[in-house]
Amino acid sequence: MPTTRETATTSPIGRKTPRVEGPLKVSGTAQYASDFHFPGMLYAVPVEATIASGRVTKLDTAAAEKMPGVRAIFHRENIGKIVRSVQGQGFERIVDERRPPFEDDVIRYYGQYIALAVADTFESAKAAADAVRATYEKDKHNVDPDLKADDEPDVVETSFVPTKRLQSERGDAEAAFANAPVKLDQTYVTPAETHNPIELQATTAIWEGSMLTIYEESQGVFNLRDVLAQMFSLPKENVRVITKFVGSGFGSKLWPWTHCALAVAAARQLGKPVKLVISRKMMFQSVGHRPRTQQRVRLGASTDGKLVSLQHEYVNHHAILDNYHEDCGEATPFHYSVPNLRVKFGRARRNVGSPTAMRGPGAVPGLYATESAMNELADQLKIDPVRLRVLNEPKIDESLGIPFSSRHLLECFELGAKEFGWSKRTSEVGSMKRDGLTLGWGMAGCAWIAARFPAEAEIQLRDDGTARVASGTQDIGTGTYTILAQLASEKTGVPLDKIEVALGDTSLPEGPLSGGSMVTGSVVPAVFAAADNAIASLLTIATTKPGTQFEKRKLADLAFEGGRVFVKADGPAKGVSFADLLRHANIRLVAGSGKSDATFGNPKPKFSTHSFGCHFVEVTWQPEIARLRVSRVVTVIDAGRIINPLAGRNQIEGAVVMGIGMALLEHTTYDPQNGAPINSNLADYMMAVNADVPPIDVHFLDFPDKEINELGARGIGEIGLAGIAAAITAAVHHATGVRVRELPVKIEDLLTSSVLA
Ligand code: MOS
Repeated sequence: MPTTRETATTSPIGRKTPRVEGPLKVSGTAQYASDFHFPGMLYAVPVEATIASGRVTKLDTAAAEKMPGVRAIFHRENIGKIVRSVQGQGFERIVDERRPPFEDDVIRYYGQYIALAVADTFESAKAAADAVRATYEKDKHNVDPDLKADDEPDVVETSFVPTKRLQSERGDAEAAFANAPVKLDQTYVTPAETHNPIELQATTAIWEGSMLTIYEESQGVFNLRDVLAQMFSLPKENVRVITKFVGSGFGSKLWPWTHCALAVAAARQLGKPVKLVISRKMMFQSVGHRPRTQQRVRLGASTDGKLVSLQHEYVNHHAILDNYHEDCGEATPFHYSVPNLRVKFGRARRNVGSPTAMRGPGAVPGLYATESAMNELADQLKIDPVRLRVLNEPKIDESLGIPFSSRHLLECFELGAKEFGWSKRTSEVGSMKRDGLTLGWGMAGCAWIAARFPAEAEIQLRDDGTARVASGTQDIGTGTYTILAQLASEKTGVPLDKIEVALGDTSLPEGPLSGGSMVTGSVVPAVFAAADNAIASLLTIATTKPGTQFEKRKLADLAFEGGRVFVKADGPAKGVSFADLLRHANIRLVAGSGKSDATFGNPKPKFSTHSFGCHFVEVTWQPEIARLRVSRVVTVIDAGRIINPLAGRNQIEGAVVMGIGMALLEHTTYDPQNGAPINSNLADYMMAVNADVPPIDVHFLDFPDKEINELGARGIGEIGLAGIAAAITAAVHHATGVRVRELPVKIEDLLTSSVLA
């Protein structure tokens, strides 16, 4: 079976290419949003509510206002007008927390901003923010972790669009379940999780007359521009958003948050640039999180393992005013062949900040539940879990009745099992040992959507032999700078070190959101079209401008390849470089623009487009001291053509590390007494670190998916986190005999192990 390897040609596509921006990052030269400084700049620090439900009855700012260096304490009465942003057509102006900051005195979650201190230095602003005294009228808050769905109509508002609560249905799932000879009915719980990129969220806002410039670590500069234009009643052209580098986002930086509007409003009121960097604690409160989910999965099967019914009903917590829906049923309708299926969601309102998309939103918690259920069913049937999946592999997407563009999940299983040594697994709990440790082996499959957002790009070929590729998308640490350089190099023949990449700026052609693992897939056609247009202009110049080497030739006689213009009949060796040609024509540069359409959101797709993969996991269990470690992971991903196997492997490894955190460590817990995310710091919110990470063996299949773009490249930012928690919990069960259905797996869960010394 084809797997990705470095290409033998000189093409940059498929090559392990180190980050082109790497030297800037390791030398400290790369400027992140909070690294920009301006003359007269002021610092803002928000004041956080210390209750989760109620009303501010009094705000005493007198002491704070008198503190040294303080310029203003803003609150509802003096912040000025901030208009509520309303979602536009399609995916225009997306915001999760729609209520503008300070709109009313009602507190709906702990940490909601109630005031803003602005001072000459960060330290003065922080001291002033701490000196603001709020008096509250408290209401009873609800952060109950037990999620029962609110009573809601069949069609509900969600963050994006009104959505049917019954998401997918075929056959009669209830009846088929009732009649199934083998049944499984379990509930799986995933906790709230908080995105913890190293880079804190930050805004620097500068007004020059009615022109607003924002430096922000945004995963979508154009969406942020459009939202700010509406909130501050400006034409879009008056707002410029700049995001040169992002210290990771994981979804928390997809949509605008309230601190950004506060910085802009404060800068407007004071007529000075204002910088606002939120604290790590605020990252847990007011810039989104993955919501807690409670998912009931019912499987009905024949005694030989064929699924006859699949039901997936889930609830996620959501905020008081906002409607984020964690789409746990995203992969359920198409992942297995099953004639009777029902996927339904519900939401439970809680006094929490608005949740939002976090790496692999929906599918990650969803596949944890459904893949765990499949593993339990395999144990119940005494069938190998790989075999159970093979038995239920669909031929088409049964939910839409259309073929998959490219689905090679079975090949993933085959390669993963081989690389892992899965055939040596003995199924009995605690039956495998090595060096005095008990081993547990588990596996799971995964899927993630593949689609394109609209994208525009521009390419310049310049008379010094360099090229520039520009698109207003973002590099959130995933390698977009490098991918754009590789794509431009492929088409223009300009070596990577002679290509300038411009992104993260709304003054550039409109690029895609860095979300949904869609940037790479989206920019391929736009960059290629831009290059084709630049080359076409170059050839026109060659035949029309006096002084060029080809001025007597016909356009049809000329060709471009590897950076050279030549007469087709003569071949490239006799041609000239484009730089030479431009110099002869006395032209500094030639530019071309390219544009490609969205496939995301297409209501009538011809193909079902997704990436697939699987994880095989080994854990070691040391019963004497109740120590569990993930000791080995093999991951195989079918994501079409891999443009940069180095950056690609890095994405999957990072996702697997995050998956170890999801399975064993991560949870945001709300204090029942005051509703605060109680472990809101990096000491108490545990994430997987190097010491938790075993060797991770990543393999990519190489089945280009031409439905996505001409290279066949799908995205890989998120899929690696899907399924891994189910593989780990299956391995935990295999080693310890303990079935944990509420993440993360805790030591106290494992103390009930039958495999204790
Ligand atoms: Mo991703 S959660 O779309 O940043």
